[in-house]
Amino acid sequence: MNRSSHVILFAIVAALTAWGAAVAEAATVLITGTNRGIGLELVRQYAERGWTVIGTARNPDTAIELNALAAQHKNITVEKLDLFDHAAIEALAGKYKDTPIDVLINNAGMLGDVPKQTVGSLDYDNFRDVLDVNAWGALKMAESFKPSLLKGEQKKVFAMTSGLGSSELTTRRGGFYAYRMSKAALNIGFRALAADWRADGIIVGIIAPGMVETDLLAASGYRGPASITTKVSVQGVMKVIDGMTLETNDKALNYDGRPIPW
Ligand SMILES: NC(=O)c1ccc[n+]([C@@H]2O[C@H](COP(=O)([O-])OP(=O)(O)OC[C@H]3O[C@@H](n4cnc5c(N)ncnc54)[C@H](OP(=O)(O)O)[C@@H]3O)[C@@H](O)[C@H]2O)c1
Repeated sequence: MNRSSHVILFAIVAALTAWGAAVAEAATVLITGTNRGIGLELVRQYAERGWTVIGTARNPDTAIELNALAAQHKNITVEKLDLFDHAAIEALAGKYKDTPIDVLINNAGMLGDVPKQTVGSLDYDNFRDVLDVNAWGALKMAESFKPSLLKGEQKKVFAMTSGLGSSELTTRRGGFYAYRMSKAALNIGFRALAADWRADGIIVGIIAPGMVETDLLAASGYRGPASITTKVSVQGVMKVIDGMTLETNDKALNYDGRPIPW
């Protein structure tokens, strides 16, 4: 190869690299439950990557950290959304129906009142609320935002599950009935969705963030040493999201890439 061929090759590689970076920067992600915890950190890291970020919160007016982040990064838009409110989900999806969304992350979730999830004193109103948000809310989001997902380049939608939804991991300790059952319902719902939407080219994935130092983990009563920061969790979750394809979305994956047993 002579010198001018080298120069041409270099120019082509540089152009392709710049094009790749531009495509990555142009990507859009919508994340639910972003005023605190893992959702807030997802917003931070996607915004720093240069993506367009739509972060939802139940009460944007009081979402101080999220608003501060949005003030620093003009690629962040904050939207009001409560997953109990299906009409609001449809209205938000209608607002964005002509906007391509590459990745939808159903992060929002609730643990529910833990003492009310002890067998013998199960509170079924609490149960319904947890199922409503964690399982039905995520499914309703996916269903409603399908037109935007179809317009996106990446066509990816994720459920945020938990090891507490895994039957194989539930051997020595029970409890958390509503939370466990909501995540198990979420898992099977998103498996069915993955099958239904495969022909559309939509990659439906299930991710667990690890034991992450958030309000939710604190409310669970967990005081062990194995927890990780939201920063570490989100770095892993984003890597899993980047790598997920229609060929690899058949397993629920932990933030570190390891499969979560069913
Ligand atoms: N932390 C862990 O160790 C862990 C482990 C496994 C799985 N997860 C999952 O990871 C996700 C994020 O958890 P996290 O630890 O970051 O929890 P978190 O700190 O308690 O944050 C939960 C987020 O979900 C939002 N949310 C709750 N109910 C909602 C509703 N009805 N409509 C809209 N948003 C609602 C909350 O908003 P408000 O502030 O308005 O309540 C908040 O933004 C959840 O799905 C959780 O189940 C967490």
